[in-house]
Formats: sequence, structure tokens, C-alpha cells
Amino acid sequence: MHEQTVWTAVDEYVTSALAPDDEALRAAQESSEKAGLPPIAVAGNQGKFLHLLARLQGARRILEIGTLGGYSTIWLARALPEDGRLVSLEYDARHAEVAGENLARAGLDRIAEIRVGAALDSLPVLAAENPEPFDLTFIDADKVNNAHYVEWALKLSRPGSVIVVDNVVRGGRVTEHDSEEPAIVGTRAAVRAVADNPRLDGTVVQTVGVKGYDGFLLARVVS
Ligand code: SAH
Ligand code: DHB
Ligand code: MG
Repeated sequence: MHEQTVWTAVDEYVTSALAPDDEALRAAQESSEKAGLPPIAVAGNQGKFLHLLARLQGARRILEIGTLGGYSTIWLARALPEDGRLVSLEYDARHAEVAGENLARAGLDRIAEIRVGAALDSLPVLAAENPEPFDLTFIDADKVNNAHYVEWALKLSRPGSVIVVDNVVRGGRVTEHDSEEPAIVGTRAAVRAVADNPRLDGTVVQTVGVKGYDGFLLARVVS
């Protein structure tokens, strides 16, 4: 498709100008590929976008759901101050192992902690620890559970916290209200969860790029 060629070229242009890979990011991508992880990490310019959001937010504590090889984790953790903390939840032990190596190589293994297991099992454990509220949550795991993840993120937030959900447009398929595809059902439920909850205020921004046509859901915790 002609459009995809242009989207990819523009992503390459802006990424090389404004979000160039350094040694640790490149190594994270290469080791993830070598380990056979699926090529679904955020693009470089999207990683930079998440990093800037965390900076704008003055984030000291970040929660991530869906680590993969730790590529987005590196972008996010680099936005934190030295005494900041990032917790990333990953179901697949192999992904977590690769991510752990990548975070160590990036010098972020003291700031960023990976917890292995289904996020819906890890989240209650995390909540029971009564952690300081997370300033930003990035939700990027199994899309079927997106609405549950939004609810958990809200529980673990404070007024002013930000919640970002990846992949909410899915080539436009998010409009398919009668879809039975779990990812679409789950994502529409997440949009509904934000719309229906007076404690959340949000929007969706559509994106195109090297990863195709997709989008982010952005929500602010109001109260
Ligand atoms: N955020 C990463 C990409 C994450 S891909 C980046 O941009 O670099 C989605 C990840 O979610 C995969 O590693 C997958 O194993 C993980 N995942 C899938 N189901 C999960 C679950 N129930 N709990 C936690 N992680 C899950
Ligand atoms: C898929 C998952 C992602 O998190 C992503 O950014 C792109 C694709 C997927 O499961 O296909
Ligand atoms: Mg994603």
C-alpha cells in the first residue's frame, strides 16, 4: 500500500531526527529480534512520545503492563529521576528474561522492575503492597483485558495521573461495535470505561507510521 510506504518513510525521518536509537535501545531491539520475540514494540518516535509524556507529567513512578523486550520500558524509565521507580508486568517469562538483560544493559535495572505473571494476578499483589500512586501507566499487553487494566491503573493512581493505552484503533476496526474479536471487544470496553467513569477524562488520538494505522487512548485521572 502506497500510504504505508509514506508512513514508514516519515517515521524513519522523524525518528532519526528526534528520537534516534542509542546503543542500549539498538541492543534491546536486536536482542529481542534474535530471541524471536514478536516485532510489536512501539516505534522509536512513539517511545520518545511516551518518554516526553512521562517528563511532562513529572513522573516519579511509572507502571507498565506488557514489557516484551523492554523497549518501551527503556524509553519510560529514562524519564524518571534517580530515585524514580518503574514496575513492568509481563506474562511471558522468556520475554521478561530478555527485557531484564536489556534493562541491565541500559543501566536501568535498579529503577525498573519486571514482575512475571498474568497482569491480572500481579496487579492485586502490587495493590496489596500499598504502593505510592503511579503518575503514569502504560497499558500495552493482551488487549482483551484493556478495560480491567484501566480500572486497575485508576486504583493505583492519584488525581492528575495519566493512563495511556496502546493499539486502540487497530486499522479502524475499533468502530466495529458488533465485533466478537477479543481485542476489539476489550478495547471498546476500555474506551467505554473511560467515557463512563467520572473520575476519568480521556480521548483517542489516531496514529499512522511504521506500525501501520493505530492509536493511543489517553486518560487523565480527575479525582
Ligand atoms: N510495551 C512493549 C510491547 C508489549 S507487547 C513495547 O512497546 O516495547 C505485549 C506484551 O504483553 C507481550 O510481551 C506479551 O507477552 C504481554 N502479555 C500478554 N498477555 C499478558 C498478560 N495477561 N499479562 C501481562 N503481560 C501480558
Ligand atoms: C500487537 C500488539 C501490540 O502491543 C502492538 O503495539 C502491535 C501489535 C499484536 O498483538 O498484534
Ligand atoms: Mg502495543
